[in-house]
Amino acid sequence: MNNLLKGKRGIIFGALDENSIAWKVALKAHEQGAQFTLTNAPVALRMGEIKKLSEICNAPIIGADATVVEDLEKLVSESMNHLGGKLDFVLHSIGMSPNVRKGKTYTDVNYEWMQKTYDISAFSLHKTLQTCMKQDALNDWSSVLALTYIAAQRSFPGYGDMADAKATLESIVRSFGYYYGTQKKVRVNSISQSPTMTTAGSGIKGFDSFFGFAEKMSPLGNAPADACADYCVSMFSDLTRYVTMQNLFHDGGFSNVGVSDAIMHLFEEKKGE
Ligand SMILES: NC(=O)c1ccc[n+]([C@@H]2O[C@H](COP(=O)([O-])OP(=O)(O)OC[C@H]3O[C@@H](n4cnc5c(N)ncnc54)[C@H](O)[C@@H]3O)[C@@H](O)[C@H]2O)c1
Repeated sequence: MNNLLKGKRGIIFGALDENSIAWKVALKAHEQGAQFTLTNAPVALRMGEIKKLSEICNAPIIGADATVVEDLEKLVSESMNHLGGKLDFVLHSIGMSPNVRKGKTYTDVNYEWMQKTYDISAFSLHKTLQTCMKQDALNDWSSVLALTYIAAQRSFPGYGDMADAKATLESIVRSFGYYYGTQKKVRVNSISQSPTMTTAGSGIKGFDSFFGFAEKMSPLGNAPADACADYCVSMFSDLTRYVTMQNLFHDGGFSNVGVSDAIMHLFEEKKGE
């Protein structure tokens, strides 16, 4: 234990169950001395799993639908009241596409659902940042992190309209990062994580094969959720004070590989059959 986050206060969105990336971040942030509130949509809270995490981390749960500004206003003000001051970090670990979930392909989306995809997976970050700014809830040098995926830059069939939402999310990171940086030295970044076995991840068609493909493409293999949580902690810490407006790949090298020997071998084996 290094107490990297000692004295820091925050909000962690998106811990659904123990596979969630946010769940692992909460455990590591707690280990490193942070105090925080946990939040999720009311429907997710009804599952009840988060209570276990709340007990381990001694972190209160405050329900909020991240698409509803009034919920976010309440969440931010109650978090400051409960934690006894302004905040130092926020984890936005939220993603959902009704189209992907219901098997609608990218070329046949339901547009109402597509708006929901954007609202839940991208605009919720803007709403959170705007709410924090209006309440002056973040201390100077605070760190806000959102989780994203490389489908924002390259096409990945099956990721559907989430790709567009992630591209928007990453743009919000840059745009809000500019304003929050100049006004309050608040940093805003996204971490682009490897495929990870979670509820959101495994909702994507063909996820298992894709997970295997990425594993073979990445020189270091897929980055596990625990390692992602370590990276998040380092980004919340004062050791990364001058990193802002970045999309940071945490993917075992996947994003910079054209093709790997391991993938080539699969085709060579096929030719030899
Ligand atoms: N799993 C992967 O392969 C992978 C890869 C790269 C990035 N990510 C990103 O990581 C983040 C976390 O996902 P995860 O993989 O831990 O899955 P997860 O399903 O455990 O987490 C997604 C969370 O979003 C929450 N959520 C959905 N709608 C919400 C709303 N309206 N208000 C508040 N919260 C809401 C869910 O309740 C859930 O807790 C997401 O942004 C996801 O896109 C995941």
